Amino acid sequence: MSAASADGAASGYGGAPSTQGAATADAATRRVYTVMLLPGDGVGPEIVAAAQEVLAAAGERFGFTVGYEEGVIGGCAIDAFGAAMEPGLIERCKRRDAVLLGAVGGPKWDTTDPHTPRPEQGLLDMRKELQLFANLRPVKSFAALAHNSTLRPEVIGGVDMVIVRELTGGAYFGERKRLPHAAYDTMYYTEDEVERLVEYAFKLATGRRRLLHSIDKANVLESSRLWRAVAQRVAARHPDVEMRNMLVDNCAMQLVREPRQFDVVCTENLFGDILSDEAGMLTGSIGMLPSASVGAGGVSLYEPIHGSAPDIAGRGIVNPCATVLSAAMMLDLSFGEVPAARAVEAAVEAALAGGARSADIAADGETVIGTQEMTASIVRAVYEGTL
Ligand code: IPM
Ligand code: MG
Repeated sequence: MSAASADGAASGYGGAPSTQGAATADAATRRVYTVMLLPGDGVGPEIVAAAQEVLAAAGERFGFTVGYEEGVIGGCAIDAFGAAMEPGLIERCKRRDAVLLGAVGGPKWDTTDPHTPRPEQGLLDMRKELQLFANLRPVKSFAALAHNSTLRPEVIGGVDMVIVRELTGGAYFGERKRLPHAAYDTMYYTEDEVERLVEYAFKLATGRRRLLHSIDKANVLESSRLWRAVAQRVAARHPDVEMRNMLVDNCAMQLVREPRQFDVVCTENLFGDILSDEAGMLTGSIGMLPSASVGAGGVSLYEPIHGSAPDIAGRGIVNPCATVLSAAMMLDLSFGEVPAARAVEAAVEAALAGGARSADIAADGETVIGTQEMTASIVRAVYEGTL
């Protein structure tokens, strides 16, 4: 279990290694945290600003302060520095208590030329350099949105799972090459990489329903057979958790067929990327899905799983919930401000229950509000909250 929180409450992510930055006390009681803010591209600046408002409200209610430093990553870094990350950014991130990222990428920087820098490379380099090997993507259905998904309410009701995606290996980082008339990427994994991820997932499962699905493609891929063999070895150390192996194609189908069968799901990088977008629809919209990228105890990174949504950027209509919920994960995992984390999550639920709907989560006939109004209703619920 992770270390006790500021007031002794247990983390909502029981198995997570403690990444808590020690709070600096400025007055007798007030706790201070510093966050590296990486707004990035597209809707990034809008959603990050929304999260800051909610964090300020939570801080006021629970007695802590969050200070910020800003960094440049993604397409905007390419424009400003000619590279997908401003120089020295990794080192600056390491000195902060946590990193909060909006989104990177957009059509302006899309290219198929292997020699032109791409915004996504900044994010991938950051994950690798900060050794953020585990990406937690909690997928919870919201009662208020049960009728707003393209999936039937009786299928998505009560869904509560966490996808644990390996984040610094596999095809994202394996050897690749563009040849004159061909190209390849390599899905490469070491036993150690698999083991630390699966071990992490088991610890998380221990604090939940004690059921872990390990997803692979062991009927075809050698790297998946290694994954499965290592997972089985780790499973032997955790007899109190049931592990089920599942092929990734079957998992993709089961996620929409009977999603409640899943509790903790662990998988390699590319499979996790794809499955988590699919799982986003279980919550009603990908605009609801937060994530935390954690490593071996250093600084952690928090970001929504949706992208930069260039089509709606700058229009004040993006759903801020995924980023606000990512900030809640940051309160829990990096700051140990567990009651504040739960209060922010409850505030999102309360805002939804009160009818707050951005365009992506509005059903026919429901009134659509913009980012600022959504944020304001969450902030109000933080102050009024019963949690
Ligand atoms: C995600 C995103 C990223 C990924 C992109 C932006 C590089 O899709 O975090 O899921 O593929 O990991
Ligand atoms: Mg993705």
